[in-house]
Amino acid sequence: MKIGMLGFGTVGRAVYENYSGSLSDLNAMIEIAFVRSKNDSRVQGFPDVAFTTDPMNVVSNRQLDIIVDVMGNTELAKKLVEEAFKNKKHVVTANKELVEKYGLALQKVAAEYDVLFLYEASVGGGVPIIRNLKQHLIGKDVSTIVGIINGTSNYVLSLMTRANFNFAEAISMAQLKGFAEKAYDNDINGYDARSKLIILARTMWRIEVLRSDICTIGISNVSKNLINDIRRRGYALKPLVLAKKRDELNYSMIVAPFLIPLDSDFSRVNDEYNVVKILGNQIQEMTFSGPGAGGPATAVSVFSDLSYLLSINKCGINTSNDKIIKVESVDSPEFNIFAEFYYDNTDCVSELLTKSDMRFSDLQNIKGTVSVVLKNIRIKPAEEKLKRIAGINNSSIVLYPILEE
Ligand SMILES: NC(=O)c1ccc[n+]([C@@H]2O[C@H](COP(=O)([O-])OP(=O)(O)OC[C@H]3O[C@@H](n4cnc5c(N)ncnc54)[C@H](OP(=O)(O)O)[C@@H]3O)[C@@H](O)[C@H]2O)c1
Repeated sequence: MKIGMLGFGTVGRAVYENYSGSLSDLNAMIEIAFVRSKNDSRVQGFPDVAFTTDPMNVVSNRQLDIIVDVMGNTELAKKLVEEAFKNKKHVVTANKELVEKYGLALQKVAAEYDVLFLYEASVGGGVPIIRNLKQHLIGKDVSTIVGIINGTSNYVLSLMTRANFNFAEAISMAQLKGFAEKAYDNDINGYDARSKLIILARTMWRIEVLRSDICTIGISNVSKNLINDIRRRGYALKPLVLAKKRDELNYSMIVAPFLIPLDSDFSRVNDEYNVVKILGNQIQEMTFSGPGAGGPATAVSVFSDLSYLLSINKCGINTSNDKIIKVESVDSPEFNIFAEFYYDNTDCVSELLTKSDMRFSDLQNIKGTVSVVLKNIRIKPAEEKLKRIAGINNSSIVLYPILEE
């Protein structure tokens, strides 16, 4: 089998460097890669690979059987992947935005041309979650998916907690270590985790969920002081995703930094590590964890899809016939929520919270910075009520749910 690659960056090179030997044991070879520049020093020293700056040399190359998309760039990737399918090539991708945004449509085109579209590396880096959800677990039984699936955010919050770094220092270190891209907005705003949550929910429950339906809070407002305050209360701050099935058509989902008890399983998952817990009646609780970012980790999952393709050596399963259901509603669940905001008239906060029908505990007030735990409430109503009380704008209220494990 002959393999062509779109992109030869962090993940692409790791796939080649770590797995070309194993691929050759399976009678497969990486033959050609599409890059932006053939003169780039990063593509020197790979005599077995032909480099091209024309992607059509890869996706329409008659010699090739499989295309590995490790390029990023959603729109171009979509066009190239479609072209690859039309040329009867299987595609393995690490591109979560591509899978989230166009996965359903691409799956259909793949089925039309009798080829496979595999995306293990798009969620969880090296953690083998997609194939397990698809083939091992029964969606009907699964009630909850909860986990840490953005390695960059977890790495940043871990450094801010353990090494007392501020946000900017932690991001710089994440970039230096290869756990954050130059453009890291999608990671710290929660959008990357949201794409992955949509992919997980779709893979598990065969449902279509819109981005705009998911309450999404990033980590960019997290300060060192806030983390220290949260620790004093006995919690760690972790970037979680949570999806709960209420019934076949109705779900609760949220992406946010959560307060998690310091002695819980999730609080021990640090740095770039990812973890996904699946809960259900029959399976009870199943946990998948491992390194969630970086070239070598992600290359494991790309190789896993390649070796799967090589083992079946033809179109084995056709997932496109699975019926995808449009959900009726996705809400954000109720939690106890940790809130922090500035309010100068500190004496009457307690009275105002009570008047607004908010139940609360642990109210603290340090020089006008109020922190409090609001009881059993959703993020949006909590935010609206606090805004009314304090007359403050969105950016100065911190609202993070608490996960009591
Ligand atoms: N790195 C991770 O930890 C990780 C984890 C999971 C999934 N992923 C996904 O894996 C994919 C690749 O990530 P990466 O970290 O390997 O990215 P990267 O280091 O930036 O590499 C991307 C490669 O594709 C090339 N490329 C990008 N856009 C291109 C274009 N328009 N035309 C030609 N070449 C283009 C780049 O060329 P230049 O070098 O010239 O820009 C580079 O060779 C992405 O979809 C990412 O989301 C990454």
